[in-house]
Amino acid sequence: MAVRPVLRMGDPLLLQVAAPVEQFDTPELHALIQDMRDTMEAMQGAGIAAPQIGVSRQVVIFGVKKNPRYPDAEEVPDTVLINPSLQVLSEDMEEGWEGCLSVPGMRGLVPRHTRIRYTGYDQFGNPIDRTVSGFHARVVQHECDHLWGILYPMRIRDLRYFGFADVLFPDQEIPDE
Ligand code: NI
Repeated sequence: MAVRPVLRMGDPLLLQVAAPVEQFDTPELHALIQDMRDTMEAMQGAGIAAPQIGVSRQVVIFGVKKNPRYPDAEEVPDTVLINPSLQVLSEDMEEGWEGCLSVPGMRGLVPRHTRIRYTGYDQFGNPIDRTVSGFHARVVQHECDHLWGILYPMRIRDLRYFGFADVLFPDQEIPDE
């Protein structure tokens, strides 16, 4: 149970492909997830991936509650997702603003698939299978990208739409992921 330092863009570990989890429901896995949760809450993020705290394993957590700080963010259920795989259900892409705990202070306009199916496991090894769209789909794509060594600035199509959060959005906040 600890808030861990978050690796920032430039750290080579963030560019690695993370290894799958082989054993579920272990003390080590539960401790990792607790540290991720503590770190995400301390930094008021919408999600975090294990590589961001220096653990190159396929574990992400995310969740967004209705929050006046993020008026445009739809609610996303608190989820632990391990060894995920994504299936694109719509080739339609939608541009949306994103932030990342590993790219502090910045925001960028990122294209994401509007509708996806994601499968994987929770920390106990129970299967997860969801079909989602919109902001939920965006958060999952952002977090799973961390497991493939991709940071959101690598997906920005037009770098004119990449900048400092307090300059771009002086009156509004967008959650970090
Ligand atoms: Ni991120």
